Amino acid sequence: MARKVQFVETVLRDANQSLIATRLPFEKFEPMLSTIDKAGFYAAECWGGATFDVCLRYLNEDPWERLRKIRAAMPNTKLQMLLRGQNVLGYSHYPDDFVKLFVKKAVENGMDVIRIFDALNDVKNMKVAMEATVNAGAIASGTISYTTSPVHTHAKFVEMVKELKEMGASTICIKDMAGIMGPQEAYDMVSAIKDAVDMPIDLHTHSTTGLAFMTYLKAVEAGVDIIDTAISPFSGGTSQPATETMAYALRQLGYQVDLDDACTKEMSDYFKGVRDEFIADGTLIPKALATDTQCLTYQIPGGMLSNLMSQLKQMNALDRLEEVMVETPKVRADMGYPPLVTPTSQMVGVQAVTNVLQGERYKKVSKEITAYCRGEYGTTPAPIDEAVKAKILGDEKPIEGRYADSLAPVVEKTRAELGDLAKSDEDVLSYIAFPNLAEKFFADRKAKEENEVTYTIVEA
Ligand code: CO
Repeated sequence: MARKVQFVETVLRDANQSLIATRLPFEKFEPMLSTIDKAGFYAAECWGGATFDVCLRYLNEDPWERLRKIRAAMPNTKLQMLLRGQNVLGYSHYPDDFVKLFVKKAVENGMDVIRIFDALNDVKNMKVAMEATVNAGAIASGTISYTTSPVHTHAKFVEMVKELKEMGASTICIKDMAGIMGPQEAYDMVSAIKDAVDMPIDLHTHSTTGLAFMTYLKAVEAGVDIIDTAISPFSGGTSQPATETMAYALRQLGYQVDLDDACTKEMSDYFKGVRDEFIADGTLIPKALATDTQCLTYQIPGGMLSNLMSQLKQMNALDRLEEVMVETPKVRADMGYPPLVTPTSQMVGVQAVTNVLQGERYKKVSKEITAYCRGEYGTTPAPIDEAVKAKILGDEKPIEGRYADSLAPVVEKTRAELGDLAKSDEDVLSYIAFPNLAEKFFADRKAKEENEVTYTIVEA
């Protein structure tokens, strides 16, 4: 019988995040939830990453309520989220009590698959989230942040996979956030992992450089079980390859694809309209949908490149872009070759800009880079350059072990502080994750409730 390849649909999370900065409000995708539910996806990626932040910051939506509403509308499909290990959905490490409660509540509110990664591939930073996921009865997808460097070998990735399996991972995801993985690398890496462990493997990539379709094809040949795709109107460019195109090609090659074409057609027709609205209001810029091979030359993820450009533009220094592009890989090497993913991509990018504009390397250093050199983000893939570390830290000694071990519990304390303002554990978690945003959201919610009460009284 033909081997089956399964699909994760990303339109609600990664495609939304990569193309339109996560600005898709719930009402805009709500009409398609039952169709997505019937389409036969392995999972729908719909939460985590930047969705939580953007719901509170720009959309005035309670991210937890969004999750519950998606769950209610999609009873048959696994819901999947992306979680930044000990960073959860933020940019630095949280205490363990927060990580555990967050994961527990995510599962209680409807999450089935939690894809857990660490920006340094330091498994110490993934352990608590992985265990909490398993304890809550959800699927822990242990994730490798894919990158290339002199120290990132297949042997090292395979070793990481074995550690993730020990921690309770039931699937493995190879996360190529920059879309730099080529077809041969995909073939070799999937083969190496398949040889070492008997676990379902999911490959996640982006179309940024144009490699993605070829990369998925060779990964499937090597035995990959699940691929991440986006419905065609939200596919391509910085997003994922198109769902329908991959399904068509794989079936032609004799693989079994259990997607319902009537459903994907309905999704495609609907999301074309949504896409056109975002093009019309300028949120979706044509460049995001185009192929950009610069990342292959500089090994800089697409999202990071556009951040660097906007930073330089703000500083009236766009003419220094070429120098910054040359400096970025050097900073990455100094920092011990971290994969460039949130938050390391931002940290390395800002430092490269600073080094160029200051005219002296590491003359000024962000507090995040200082914390990084202290070991607060975990163990770096290769040691940090000694001279750079000495210049940044002086005589200070980096910490040993896991940074979160030094963080005091935060949940009980915050619950007490918030009092009536927080109506649930979910509110407490939102507040710890994004205090200013959550506070504003609580105030708006209260005002809205009071208005509704007044309205009811007037009506009566
Ligand atoms: Co992605």
